[in-house]
Amino acid sequence: MTLAHWAKALREHWGIEAELTRLDGEYDLNFLAKGQDGQGYILKAMRPGCDEWLVDMQVKAFEHIAERQPALPCPRVIASPSGQSLLTLPDESGQYRLVWLLNQLPGRCYAKAEPKSNALIQEVGRVLGGAAKALADFRHEGLERDFKWDLMRAGWVTEKLSCITPPERLAILDDISTEFAKLEPVLAKLPKQAIHNDANDYNIMVAGELNAPRHVSGLIDLGDMCAAPRVCDLAIAAAYIVLDHPAPETALASLVAGYHEACPLTAAEVDMVWPLLRMRLAVSVVNSTLMAAENPDDPYVTVSQAPAWRFLEGNTLHGGLLNARLRAASGLPVVDGADRIMAWIEQERGNFASLMGEDLAEAPMGSLSVEQSTWPQNPFHMPLEEAAQVGAEFEDRGQIWLGYYHEPRLIYTDAAFRKGPWKASNRRTVHLAVDAFARAGTAMFAPLRGEVVVAEYRSGHLDYGGVIILRHETPEGDSFFTLYGHLDPEFLDRLKPGDIVKKGEEFCRLGDPSQNGGWAPHVHFQLALTTDGIETDWPGVGDPDEMYLWRALCPNPAALLNLPNEKVHYKPTSKDSVLAGRRAHFGGNLSLTYSDPVMLVRGWKHHLFDEWGRPYLDAYNNVPHVGHAHPRIQAVAADQLKRMNSNTRYLHPAQTAFAGKVLSKLPDHFEVCFFVNSGTEANELALRLARAHTGAKGMVTPDHGYHGNTTGAISISAYKFNKPGGIGQADWVELIEVADDYRGSFRRDDPDRAQKYAGFVDAAIDRLQEKGHGVAGFIAETFPSVGGQIIPPKGYLPAVYEKIRNAGGVCIADEVQTGLGRLGDCYFGFEHQDALPDIVVLGKPIGNGHPLGVLVTTKAIAESFDNGIEFFSTFGGSTLSCRIGKEVLDIVDEEGLQENARIQGEQLIEGLKALEQKYACVGDVRGLGLFLGLELINPDGSQATEICSYVKNRMRDHRILIGSEGPKDNILKIRPPLTIDSDDTDMIVKTLDSILQEVEAA
Ligand SMILES: Cc1ncc(COP(=O)(O)O)c(C=O)c1O
Repeated sequence: MTLAHWAKALREHWGIEAELTRLDGEYDLNFLAKGQDGQGYILKAMRPGCDEWLVDMQVKAFEHIAERQPALPCPRVIASPSGQSLLTLPDESGQYRLVWLLNQLPGRCYAKAEPKSNALIQEVGRVLGGAAKALADFRHEGLERDFKWDLMRAGWVTEKLSCITPPERLAILDDISTEFAKLEPVLAKLPKQAIHNDANDYNIMVAGELNAPRHVSGLIDLGDMCAAPRVCDLAIAAAYIVLDHPAPETALASLVAGYHEACPLTAAEVDMVWPLLRMRLAVSVVNSTLMAAENPDDPYVTVSQAPAWRFLEGNTLHGGLLNARLRAASGLPVVDGADRIMAWIEQERGNFASLMGEDLAEAPMGSLSVEQSTWPQNPFHMPLEEAAQVGAEFEDRGQIWLGYYHEPRLIYTDAAFRKGPWKASNRRTVHLAVDAFARAGTAMFAPLRGEVVVAEYRSGHLDYGGVIILRHETPEGDSFFTLYGHLDPEFLDRLKPGDIVKKGEEFCRLGDPSQNGGWAPHVHFQLALTTDGIETDWPGVGDPDEMYLWRALCPNPAALLNLPNEKVHYKPTSKDSVLAGRRAHFGGNLSLTYSDPVMLVRGWKHHLFDEWGRPYLDAYNNVPHVGHAHPRIQAVAADQLKRMNSNTRYLHPAQTAFAGKVLSKLPDHFEVCFFVNSGTEANELALRLARAHTGAKGMVTPDHGYHGNTTGAISISAYKFNKPGGIGQADWVELIEVADDYRGSFRRDDPDRAQKYAGFVDAAIDRLQEKGHGVAGFIAETFPSVGGQIIPPKGYLPAVYEKIRNAGGVCIADEVQTGLGRLGDCYFGFEHQDALPDIVVLGKPIGNGHPLGVLVTTKAIAESFDNGIEFFSTFGGSTLSCRIGKEVLDIVDEEGLQENARIQGEQLIEGLKALEQKYACVGDVRGLGLFLGLELINPDGSQATEICSYVKNRMRDHRILIGSEGPKDNILKIRPPLTIDSDDTDMIVKTLDSILQEVEAA
């Protein structure tokens, strides 16, 4: 009845015919009105007796914003045709209410939007800053209101603190309100203006589809507006943004940077965000505690406090360092005086005393970067012997050489450098100092006068050993600091905090590895513009994604060494320039994964590293079968290249040794190996062998298969020839349906499905015979991979093989994806099927990245092929390839990698199956060992291509590389190197879990 009443009001006063639904609202009536044209409105009928000034203020403020900043996503007030924005209308009981109408904005509230990316948070900041700008000249008598949500008057909390009983919580709030009290006079001096004053996570709307970036679609509800310094508005939004955010400091940096872009802040304002944010949370928790006392039966009041307490109690952020971060993110001086300090240092460049006692202008640079250096071999573990040798290649009779500032390095392997629970979690890699390598004992001289702040010995492995920090002062009285690490602790007897070191005074010496933390002798020379928040424990390296902060806080110290900045400032290869080069000089159909591609320059086992040293868990690449950069493969390749590398026209024991090793893994009826360069070449050769042996041409193969990129291989790869623009199906090729018992013609509930799928071969054979091609053979990926990681029902392949053989054909098993132990339970896929092929094709993994393919067959087929024409593949069976191929197979055996594939595969399947139970969009989990597929579906069961693409890209954001497959590209493919361990399989499952939650929330 109420709905009909207000629908009528809408019709009569605004001329809008709409269907109404009631929205939440504590005292007022709020309706969503859906107009006949699909347009949505919000009709607001305020509580009887509501202050007119309060509604008038909101109406006028929205109108003001629309006029000043029409692009801002704020609702528009819709005036009645007679030009009234605010009407007084009777409700059903005849009571008069103030009524107004707004247009509905798209999206959902920020609280429910996932993921809350930094880009989204930055946009929230921009919108809020835009609103502040728009409201700067808005005037209304109602703005000067006296209410508890005005942060300037938040001091009321102090008197009420006694309602907070646990002493630890009380102490936190005490702290906050003491800090606030100090701030109050400063706050009072700031100019006031109209502010939104309640940009909480329910008053910000976010729109965007799964694969389209989320964007801010609304800033709503001006009901708490008041006049206050604009920074209060920002701090209130900040107080919600940080709650339950995994990296609140990053979220705050994004928010403040966005706000500053739209509405520039002063550094002093930026410094107030943190204390005001905390005070706002204090207001919230005190207010709800008081309310809970008044309404003891309302559990919601206390529940709503939980995130704020989680944040306040769990907080580890340091206010000073946070201020520096927020300033740096906004491009403001990182600390007061930063510009003056840098200008003075710049002016004095050339006049500082020489740190190493000699001019460094000609000193050579040595790079330890991720790209240029291979230190350390294992980026997750640096043994002390290696640390003591770091940079040995640059050593030249003890001459000084320099290490770069701003250089991403992998030598920082300790868990302390990692910023999360996984090996692929973010880690700090970028060097914030300049290194000078020289002989242990080399004396050092203070570049300028300084007071000792730290002079101590840090004994941890790969720590600083002896370390000194000096405080300096510019003539204008600004302080800055320099740090000298990896020293001989002999200075401990001489120097203590407070001592003065004069400019040019010899004050310390380079330590040897037994004194300096274990490193090759060098000094780590770092500049910092403040120690607030880093105190005596400065980070020597930074997270590459946080360099906006560290570059500002610990700038390039080159000037203090009398060197030009460029000499020591490392610049990693720009990904953009590589991308541009690729676009200019490579074919457009050479595809790149991810819309923001990754550039990978180092690897180790099942991890890869980009040019900034960011680690990625490689759950996609099957080529590095025994792991990236395997030391045994490196050694065998280097050893053979030192000797010679030739071809199969000459005898070499490595060739027969490799053949012997391959055949030892296969049933006895395989006796002959052909070595080629690739899986493609092996399949091309398989076609020739089949034809030579049978005298026929026709081939039968499952749909959606892939066997390589040459003309012949493409002809048997429906995945390629049937694509739009593909060459189409050759008349000597017959396709049969893939034996996919999840989605195909015969499902898992059909006990005869294997035979039924195999039955498709009969018609294919008939068609080939009719066309006169005869049957040369059948080729299939034993478990179709690009077809969607499919495991055919047991009994399928033997039945197919029997039919093919009866028709005179040979059976080819393409084991490029499935062979060599990946399946865990068996070494080859055909073993799982209890099938015996005539030809087995092996590719990519057998070379672990080195180009190598192998075809194995029976004596009889090899003899049919031996028709007098020489078979020769120049690089096939090269000495190098044979050594590498055998080493790969030996490693699989000796490192127990097949067994590892079985164990890790089981763990993964178990985790993925649990996700299948949890999320409706997971339709199927299948696979064996480390050959796994997770099929994503829409609510109607159809293939969820969009979801799959979203998940794949989000996994990459979380530093996990996985692929997608299937005719509709809706199957996630998990196929890591066989070295993967349980921590990493755990990472895959947990990360997938969080991303599937996002999918459900979307
Ligand atoms: C099953 C299968 N066969 C053959 C090939 C072709 O191998 P290559 O790219 O080494 O020529 C591939 C490559 O992806 C494959 O997956």
